[in-house]
Amino acid sequence: MTRKFFVGGNWKMNGDKKSLGELMQTMNGAKLDPNVEVVCGAPSIYLDFVRSKLDAKIGVAAQNCYKVPKGAFTGEISPAMIKDCGVNWVILGHSERRHVFGESDELIGQKTAHALENGLGVIACIGEKLDEREAGITEKVVFAQTKVIADNVKDWGKVVLAYEPVWAIGTGKTASPQQAQEVHEKLRAWLKTNVSEAVANSVRIIYGGSVTGATCKELASQKDVDGFLVGGASLKPEFVEIINAKA
Ligand code: PGA
Repeated sequence: MTRKFFVGGNWKMNGDKKSLGELMQTMNGAKLDPNVEVVCGAPSIYLDFVRSKLDAKIGVAAQNCYKVPKGAFTGEISPAMIKDCGVNWVILGHSERRHVFGESDELIGQKTAHALENGLGVIACIGEKLDEREAGITEKVVFAQTKVIADNVKDWGKVVLAYEPVWAIGTGKTASPQQAQEVHEKLRAWLKTNVSEAVANSVRIIYGGSVTGATCKELASQKDVDGFLVGGASLKPEFVEIINAKA
């Protein structure tokens, strides 16, 4: 089974209409590998704007959403609202949501279930912190995070699993291709044992953490690396190079 390469950009809380408009112009005009699914994660206030400006072949993602359709939840947005803006994806469980905003595994699981039930695709993020890697518990941590996500997924066709070691995010310290491959392979084996062989073979497991034009090609050549979630470099023309890593 071939898994379509998936490259997500995570713009985080960056950019304005001017700079994002220029970035989108670059992306719309670029030659993108047609064998790659591309999705840009925009700040919620710009979802409508970004969806209206980006070429239809490029997907858009929200960077977060809440676990219910509507109500008295000041400051939150729902999957229904995201869909209403013509946006079909959401990033959930990003390490900044987990570690800056204190989101629990349980909440991320509930959000995942609700987003999927409402027809969004979910880029579900997991990853160990540096002290956890150094303590030799990387597997334990990422399996536990994956289990909570898996418990909330019925249709894996709409899920992309993003392995993002926290120590590699925004640090300029990309995981080596071997480090990434090792964890991706173990995650796929976990899915085989705990979900099904078909899901293990079909789910895209993408890598995130300081991916750049310089590091993307070797990472992309790893057997179990099915794409990237890109932060800093997704705000630069270099993002096109990363999208075309396998071309
Ligand atoms: P980075 O961010 O590429 O800037 O390390 C990745 C992410 O947070 O998804």
